[in-house]
Amino acid sequence: MKKIKLIILTFVAIQFSSIEAKESSCINCHLSSEWVSDTTIASVFMAGDIHRNMGLGCEDCHGGDPKIGFVEGDPVLAMDPAKGYKDPPGRLGVPEFCGGCHSDVEYMKRYNPRLSTDQLKLYKTSIHGKSLYNRKDTKVAICTDCHGGHGILPSSDSRSGVFHANIPGTCKKCHSDTGYMRGYKYEGKQIPTDQYDEYRESIHGILVLEKGDNSAPACNACHGNHGATPPNLASVSAACGECHANNRDFFNGSPHKEAWEAMDLPECEQCHGNHNIKAVTDDLLGVSEGAICLDCHAENSAGYLTAQKMSMSIDSLKYSIADADSIVQEAERKGVEGGQARFDLGAAKDDLTRVRSVVHTFDHQQVSEITTAGIKTSGGVKLGAEAALKDIKIRQIGLAVSLLVIIFVAIMIRLKIKQVDSKTDFEAWSQSK
Ligand code: HEC
Ligand code: HEC
Ligand code: HEC
Ligand code: HEC
Ligand code: HEC
Ligand code: HEC
Ligand code: HEC
Ligand code: HEC
Ligand code: HEC
Repeated sequence: MKKIKLIILTFVAIQFSSIEAKESSCINCHLSSEWVSDTTIASVFMAGDIHRNMGLGCEDCHGGDPKIGFVEGDPVLAMDPAKGYKDPPGRLGVPEFCGGCHSDVEYMKRYNPRLSTDQLKLYKTSIHGKSLYNRKDTKVAICTDCHGGHGILPSSDSRSGVFHANIPGTCKKCHSDTGYMRGYKYEGKQIPTDQYDEYRESIHGILVLEKGDNSAPACNACHGNHGATPPNLASVSAACGECHANNRDFFNGSPHKEAWEAMDLPECEQCHGNHNIKAVTDDLLGVSEGAICLDCHAENSAGYLTAQKMSMSIDSLKYSIADADSIVQEAERKGVEGGQARFDLGAAKDDLTRVRSVVHTFDHQQVSEITTAGIKTSGGVKLGAEAALKDIKIRQIGLAVSLLVIIFVAIMIRLKIKQVDSKTDFEAWSQSK
């Protein structure tokens, strides 16, 4: 009995203390429209801000005493500078304000040892941070523009401004606003405000914004979360290479690598663009209209001839696969079981996918090794399907011949029966029995 009482008492005590922790004079007063003009600050904080969920209160950021002031009806008791209360930071002060905790390794470790503590440091290296600190320009993005002020959510929450699929919309607020961005220069020219519109139509944008695909990049994958600078020439390809690792490695071993570095050309971006990257077709390669290689390689130069040869090799493989495919289809229509043929054809199609990446070696030898193998495979499939079709033909002829024989025999038997009929009077014979 005593034990149960104790348990109940402990339970009540725990309940009470947790209510105590959540209910503070700051929150009570700031939720009351009788006291403050804007109650949404406290209400969005209460509705799931990560800081509140981790047990922090208003006073952890603003200082002051949350145990006093509401009942007394005196804000000054709570918002007391002697108790650490300080006025909220202006836009200029926000990054240091947030960084006060987020750069403090020891402090943050207590809550989440895996959370990085480099946001402020990186922010200071970004164009946003540099302009804020060097020019006191408060129009650039600060922590609260991307994360919100009193309803801060982890990036895994789909309502957060930094949730993967919401990031482009967060950047767009400023970067697509021509009035807001007027006067800002990038490489001596007015910063364009078309990044979002271009991105939205790119293969990456479609995947992120329409399909919610986390594997495709939002703005931050290329620009960084906090070190938001335009990627410099070397780091653009590093950013692309994070995801397209094979293409990066092939490119790095290619004749373009050093030549382009010497000429200060970007890498992937030079051929694919940045915000408007579209799904590629084979027309990008070669020397026909629309091929990117023509941008730099004059007719009959080494690059030109290689482009031509690579394109022809890929076309041959495509043709060979299409050809084999149509014959396999015909055979299947005629009842041939095509499982193995489809499997082999799949391998040839994999070669085609692979070679489109190996193109980035810009080396015909490596391309043709794969296309030759693929053509051999699909050629084999084609031969097999043709043999099966030939088999069917032979069987069909055989069938026709045996049918003819059967019909012939049937007719002969019938004629024979008729002959016998006319010779014997069957009924008379049977009655006599
Ligand atoms: C008795 C009511 C009351 C209590 C208790 C109270 N506040 Fe306030 N607070 C106010 C009023 C009134 C304002 C003025 C702004 C307004 O009218 O909306 C204000 C303003 C603020 C501001 C903005 C100041 C500025 O310069 O813009 C902050 C920050 C703030 N309170 C934090 C706190 C914190 C933290 C606590 C608890 C430690 C707290 N408040 C407790 C009533 C209260
Ligand atoms: C994670 C830190 C953090 C916590 C927790 C926090 N605030 Fe703030 N607060 C800020 C920052 C940063 C600003 C200034 C920038 C802004 O307005 O968003 C601010 C500004 C304010 C302002 C002034 C708003 C204005 O428009 O001038 C008020 C009022 C305020 N906070 C009240 C509160 C109350 C009440 C709580 C608790 C319910 C609270 N804050 C919890 C960081 C915090
Ligand atoms: C009083 C210390 C303190 C201040 C000031 C503070 N934070 Fe936090 N913040 C924390 C703690 C503690 C966590 C919880 C860490 C965790 O569990 O992931 C947190 C978590 C976060 C997270 C979620 C991280 C995640 O898990 O994905 C974001 C985003 C964040 N804070 C942004 C801000 C911003 C923006 C400001 C300034 C407006 C700010 N914080 C000010 C202490 C603070
Ligand atoms: C330009 C927008 C932007 C600004 C400004 C910004 N952040 Fe972030 N922040 C992000 C993005 C994007 C993420 C990552 C989302 C994800 O996980 O993919 C992030 C993640 C975080 C996280 C989670 C841990 C991490 O590093 O991934 C914390 C904490 C955080 N930011 C705090 C801050 C603080 C503090 C500031 C100000 C010094 C700040 N942020 C400024 C966009 C911004
Ligand atoms: C609050 C408005 C605002 C938001 C939100 C914002 N930016 Fe910016 N950003 C600016 C301004 C203003 C500049 C120009 C700063 C300058 O040149 O001094 C800028 C500059 C940049 C630059 C550098 C361009 C150059 O001149 O080199 C990049 C890159 C950038 N932002 C990326 C982003 C990304 C990515 C996001 C979203 C994660 C974002 N920004 C969110 C206002 C914003
Ligand atoms: C696939 C990578 C990638 C993505 C995704 C991406 N960018 Fe960029 N961005 C770049 C590259 C590369 C540059 C050009 C750097 C250079 O040429 O110096 C650039 C340049 C910029 C600039 C400088 C001005 C300009 O347009 O050249 C801004 C601002 C910018 N991006 C914002 C954004 C915003 C906002 C988003 C999301 C809507 C975004 N970027 C998405 C790669 C990317
Ligand atoms: C000299 C121009 C050029 C450069 C530089 C270049 N590419 Fe390509 N890329 C192409 C061509 C041409 C194709 C199309 C090949 C085909 O389909 O026949 C292609 C195809 C692709 C594809 C689709 C095929 C596949 O591999 O899935 C991706 C992804 C790609 N490139 C990424 C990159 C990346 C990442 C870089 C930088 C490391 C890069 N590209 C550099 C010309 C280039
Ligand atoms: C965060 C990962 C990520 C980053 C960073 C990234 N991509 Fe992609 N990219 C993808 C995904 C996912 C797809 C769609 C699936 C696929 O085709 O590989 C894609 C598709 C493409 C395609 C079309 C491929 C096709 O089959 O037609 C090209 C071209 C491309 N990316 C080039 C780039 C370039 C250039 C960069 C750097 C400026 C870059 N990507 C950065 C993940 C990324
Ligand atoms: C932006 C200009 C540019 C584009 C676009 C470009 N190249 Fe190049 N390429 C160069 C330069 C510069 C060199 C090194 C100097 C030279 O050999 O002409 C080079 C060298 C080469 C070489 C080595 C030539 C040799 O001397 O052995 C090959 C092969 C090549 N490129 C193929 C291609 C193919 C294929 C494409 C199209 C997918 C292409 N290039 C697109 C500029 C370009």
